[in-house]
Amino acid sequence: MNLYKYVSDKINEKLGATVNLESPRNREFGDFATNVAMVNVKSAGKNPRELATDYVAKLAELDFVENASVAGPGFINIKLRDDFIWKNVAAPEQITADKPLVIDMDYGAYNVAKSLHIGHLRTSIVGDTLYRLGRFLGHKMISYNHMGDWGRSMGFVIAWIERLHPDWPFFQSNFDPDGDYSKYTFDPAELDTYYPSAAALAKTDTAFLEHAQMITAELQQGHAGYNAIYNIFMPISLASMNKTVKSLNIVPFDNDLGERNAAKYTAPVEKMIRDKNLLVKSDGAEIIIVKRDTDNKPMPPVMFYNSRGAVPYDATDIMALYYRKITDNPDKVIYLTDKRQSLHFEQLFRVAELLNMFPADALEHIGYGTINGSDGKPFKTRDGNAAGLNDIIDMVRVAARARVAESGKKLDDETIDEIALAALKFNDLMHDLRSDYIFDPDSVTSFEGRTGPYILYTAVRLNSILKKAETNQKSEIVNHKLTVDERNLLIQIMDFERTVLTAFDNRATDLIANYAYDLCQLINTFYHNCPIMRDDIDDKTRAGRLHIVRVARDTLATAIDLMGLTVPREM
Ligand code: ARG
Repeated sequence: MNLYKYVSDKINEKLGATVNLESPRNREFGDFATNVAMVNVKSAGKNPRELATDYVAKLAELDFVENASVAGPGFINIKLRDDFIWKNVAAPEQITADKPLVIDMDYGAYNVAKSLHIGHLRTSIVGDTLYRLGRFLGHKMISYNHMGDWGRSMGFVIAWIERLHPDWPFFQSNFDPDGDYSKYTFDPAELDTYYPSAAALAKTDTAFLEHAQMITAELQQGHAGYNAIYNIFMPISLASMNKTVKSLNIVPFDNDLGERNAAKYTAPVEKMIRDKNLLVKSDGAEIIIVKRDTDNKPMPPVMFYNSRGAVPYDATDIMALYYRKITDNPDKVIYLTDKRQSLHFEQLFRVAELLNMFPADALEHIGYGTINGSDGKPFKTRDGNAAGLNDIIDMVRVAARARVAESGKKLDDETIDEIALAALKFNDLMHDLRSDYIFDPDSVTSFEGRTGPYILYTAVRLNSILKKAETNQKSEIVNHKLTVDERNLLIQIMDFERTVLTAFDNRATDLIANYAYDLCQLINTFYHNCPIMRDDIDDKTRAGRLHIVRVARDTLATAIDLMGLTVPREM
């Protein structure tokens, strides 16, 4: 149940007014509070306390209200009935959306032959949680790993391979596309070194740079040898990408379709653009002008064909939108990248509008902030290099292992991996997406405080209580008078649905992460103050408390799953 919505709808109906309802942290005076009397006082011609007294009399008639009272200058406090809470608190269930949307989500978006780096962390983790949230809310979510698999860097990689193996058949003029090339293969780690090596060389060697650029254009135009070598290294790179994705426990992408797939739609998109007279020649290239008279910041044109006739990153994104339009026909397309790509998406969305492909409000770019080291600068490994995603995962594993050793626990490697992953992911999810944050492998693995391990630890604790109690429950009746801690916990549980909705609507994964943390705090306070198995606890109270443990566990487990974490067997 979405408690907040239920209570506020009933109150609005009863008072015939739109009530601003608050759910205070401290529930000493009530579970909900409102200033409705103070807001409506002008039109009512009464003083706020008088009006509040009238309202309170009406509110008392609602069947879920234990009592309503006036406080201070005219606030109203509302306390819920225990039996209402007992009756309605339940484990979360998948929600059926009133208006299910088809939502394409573009995240991850890794690059072929370039290992995943720290910049891919947030798009992967947050993208995955938004995907899971949308799915939980009943939308049709379709994920795209829009790979960088067709642009500039492909020419660099092929040029580097040619440099290493000039005698390979792919580079000869008599190349036979029907030959057997199965003996040519690459080690994925080595493959990832080609682009950086080539890019470094291109800085000083213009002939090499031009050759690499030419290769990209020829690759796109169907050069048989380049395409053959591409078809060898591309699947190797994709497999290693997917290995990393799997190690992050991310729902597999519905589509591993990137720039290359998009480029297949160049002809129909070009036609649309030409039909609207939007393609402009400029220095041998062809561009689309997206500037508007109202712009008060630079708005460069979008490059459709570069001077070599290749379709660059900007252009393939137009084709990718076209592809999604003719396949999924989505209500929304959400892109998740580093905020430094904001201008690119603003340009893209303008093109989509110019082509009448999508209305502006159907397209959404979420630009996330940078992950920094303790010096406030983008996070680097100890040797000063940009950190690879695998480096980061390893660092957190080492820190988690040290924490576990420190605590004297004996846990197997699988469990430590689960803890490490939770540490990394939870930390990423709990920060405001649009801001930068500081990453410190040691603090994220702490078993206390706002951390992934604390969340998992609480879940493990609930599981173990339930396991011990399994055969011990004598009563089925769950309706004892609630203590403060029970009440706080149950009301938080009943706020789960609203949290999921708000988190998804605002594309704010921090809401779900911080909800989970608050839930754990309340669970642990409840556990501390409300004994369950102690001999002096009567059967009915015990049954009630076990019921609370069960719904708390199910709610926490759902939140954990939405964050893409897994609960270890023991901890
Ligand atoms: N591959 C790009 C990168 O690593 C991100 C692509 C984002 N998605 C898109 N449709 N442009 O920066």
